[in-house]
Parts: sequence; C-alpha cells; structure tokens
Amino acid sequence: MISRACKRLVLHLPDAASTERHETGASITQSCHSFFRELNKVGALQKGHNMSIFVTGGAGFIGSNFVIDWLAASDEPVVNLDKLTYAGNLQNLTSLAGDSRHIFEHGDIGDTARVSQLLAAHRPRAVLNFAAESHVDRSIHGPGEFIQTNIVGTFALLESVRAYWGGLDASAKADFRFLHVSTDEVYGTLSRTDPAFTEAHRYQPNSPYSASKAASDHLVRAYHHTYGLPVLTTNCSNNYGPYHFPEKLIPLMIVNALAGKPLPVYGDGMQVRDWLYVKDHCSAIRCVLEAGSLGETYNVGGWNEKPNIEIVHAVCALLDELRPKADGSSYATQIAYVKDRPGHDRRYAIDARKLEQELGWRPLETFDSGIRKTVQWYLGNPDWVAQVQSGAYRQWVQTQYTEPVAKGVLATCI
Ligand SMILES: NC(=O)c1ccc[n+]([C@@H]2O[C@H](COP(=O)([O-])OP(=O)(O)OC[C@H]3O[C@@H](n4cnc5c(N)ncnc54)[C@H](O)[C@@H]3O)[C@@H](O)[C@H]2O)c1
Repeated sequence: MISRACKRLVLHLPDAASTERHETGASITQSCHSFFRELNKVGALQKGHNMSIFVTGGAGFIGSNFVIDWLAASDEPVVNLDKLTYAGNLQNLTSLAGDSRHIFEHGDIGDTARVSQLLAAHRPRAVLNFAAESHVDRSIHGPGEFIQTNIVGTFALLESVRAYWGGLDASAKADFRFLHVSTDEVYGTLSRTDPAFTEAHRYQPNSPYSASKAASDHLVRAYHHTYGLPVLTTNCSNNYGPYHFPEKLIPLMIVNALAGKPLPVYGDGMQVRDWLYVKDHCSAIRCVLEAGSLGETYNVGGWNEKPNIEIVHAVCALLDELRPKADGSSYATQIAYVKDRPGHDRRYAIDARKLEQELGWRPLETFDSGIRKTVQWYLGNPDWVAQVQSGAYRQWVQTQYTEPVAKGVLATCI
C-alpha cells in the first residue's frame, strides 16, 4: 500500500510551482507515474507478486491509447479484454503487433466464466474497466445495449473481480485495485454561470448513456462499501485525440470536412464541454491507479471549456492551414446547423482540483496543442480512417446521419 508520505513526496517535486503550466503538468504527471510504478514494482517483486494489469475495452478509443501509452512507459504486461463491438478496433493496436507484453482476449465483460478464467490465469494486480457503450446518440436510439454492457456487464465484472480478489493472499489483496473509468456526464447539466462539477456534485444523468454510467459508478462504490473491494473511479470530461471513432464530434468534423460533406452541428452549437487530450486522460488514470485513495472518485478535466461551434471552427481553421482546399474556400463553409439532440445537456465543466492537489496531476496539453496534434494525426492516418469507414461504421452513418441530416433531424455530437 502506498503511504500518504509517498503521495506528498510526489506533490513536492522540484520546481513544480515555478515552471510554466505546460511543463509543470508534464513533469508532475510523468514523475507521478514512474515514481509510483517503480515503487509498486519493487514492492510487488519483493512479495513475489505477478506484475500485470487487466484492461477491458482496450481496443476502443481511450482504452487503446491507454494500452499503447502504458507499454511505452512500462514493461508490465497488459491483458486486454474487448468484445470488439463497432467501436472496438484492433487496428488501433497495430503498433503492438508481435509485442508479447500485450495479450489480447476477445470477450465480453459480462461473461463471468470467461473473465474469471482469465483473471485466474493471468493474476493481474489491477483491473481497469474502460469497456462501455459510449455514444449518447446511440443510447437515445437503442438504450438496451447500454444497460446490458454498462450496468449488467459492470456488475458481472465486479462479481468476477470480487471472487478473484477474495482468493488472493493478504498482501496481494491489499495491493489490488479495480479502477472504473467513468464520465462527467453522470453529473447532468450546468447553467452558464454554475460552478464546475466537483466530486461532491450530485448525480443527475440525463441520457440513457449517462444514466447507465451513473448506475455502474454506484455499483462500483457499493462493492467498496459492502465488500471492501479496493476501487477507484475517475469521472472524465470529453476526450479527443488519435483513434477516436468518427461518430464523435471532432473526428466526424475532420473526416466530413475532408470528404466535402456537411459538418452537422446540433442546435445553436453553444453546448459547452470541457475538452481533454486523450493522452492526458491516460496519464491521469495511471496516476489515480498508483496513488489514488481507495473508494475515492477523481474528476479529470482539461480546464478547456468550449462551445461545440468553437471546436468546429478550430478544426476548420487547422484544416484550412494544413490541407487548404483547392478553391481557396474555408472548410467552415460546410457547417450545417441541424435540429438539436433530445435532452441535450447544455454545459459540462469539470473541476479537477482534487486530482491536482492530492495526486499532483495536471494535463500536459493545452487545447491548441492537443487539437493540432489530433488534426495532424487524422491527416497522417488516412488508412485508419478508410478502414473504419469501410466497416460497420458506414452502415451506421447511412442509417443515422445521411438521411436525417438532410431532413434536419439529427446531427452528431459527443
Ligand atoms: N470518449 C470520451 O470522451 C469519454 C469521456 C469520459 C469517459 N469516457 C468513458 O471511457 C470509457 C472508454 O470510452 P471510449 O470513448 O474509449 O469508448 P469506445 O466506445 O471508443 O470503446 C469502448 C470499447 O469497449 C468495448 N466493449 C463494449 N462493450 C463491451 C463488453 N461488453 N465487453 C468487453 N468490451 C466491450 C468496445 O469493443 C470498445 O473497444 C467508457 O467507459 C466511457 O464511458 C469516455
């Protein structure tokens, strides 16, 4: 177990307060991760524990970024269980082909027998649950899958993990962690002037997606209070970055802009979200995993509140610069306002001070640096985009976006 003194050590890294924001976030975050990883490694090796982690949903957007970043920073193997729904894409993990530290397992978190067998075989020191149905629009059109994976699936996973954890020896049991990756959407919506969500904000989910994530958060909490399972929960704001499935706002705008298609924006485009570069989310999760207090929840955010329309204009401006159109017009001319999503939350804003003050984490990227990296990544990876578009995604776009957008019924968002 990591002591409070160790946490304080990380909080007092040299020059943390005196350097520029960007560098401070980087140095603290990097140091936090490597310091606690080394500490855990020594401790675990002394105790003769296996060192591996078990990730669910590691072929999705955030999960695949997490696995790649983890193995770039550590030799500790990752067992990656993913059902490979439309959002799971093994192409995200091609950089790990042939890497024996990455063990991919195709399966469902709701399959208790399979998960139990995998846990017994690999004996991980932590389980990180990224697996979910994650797209709000899909949850409005068909909530069933969201209830099944996000609630029933998380329950089944918790049961498998509880049984595994219960069978560990006392020391491995004390060191074990279950980290649940959740969203700021569980808190509901804010007015323009409301303070940002803290961890104490009450849960008021407004979509089937956020309600299903809220239910899963409650289950995780209950497994800590009832059974003592050593859990941690992170509630993060909107992510963006490489491998983001092009049904979500930023990748959809990039892909549609390049294809000369309309850029559908819901309502007046003034829905505000807090944006975080995905690699910063991954570093926050590593930090919470190694140093978070058991049973606690941590908000993760980028301090980047922006209305959707501003995001779309930022993407267009970058594309105008990096891939100018032959006729010299701006990609912004493709913006098309369409009817708003039902029950669309107006504003999310994350207060991430707890994570910063207790564990020393801050995002590395500003919005400007992160969005530039993201647009450059999509421009540099047309094969990935083509591969995604040739799959089930194409069907989804045809049925959900092509016709309704023409009728002004539906666009996309987050
Ligand atoms: N994307 C965001 O902006 C954001 C923000 C905050 C929190 N989150 C949360 O982070 C997690 C990951 O989000 P994402 O954007 O990477 O989602 P994603 O939809 O891109 O990926 C989800 C992954 O889970 C897998 N999966 C789905 N059902 C499964 C099941 N029953 N068993 C095993 N695997 C299954 C899918 O195949 C996919 O690989 C989710 O829990 C989401 O709620 C996302």
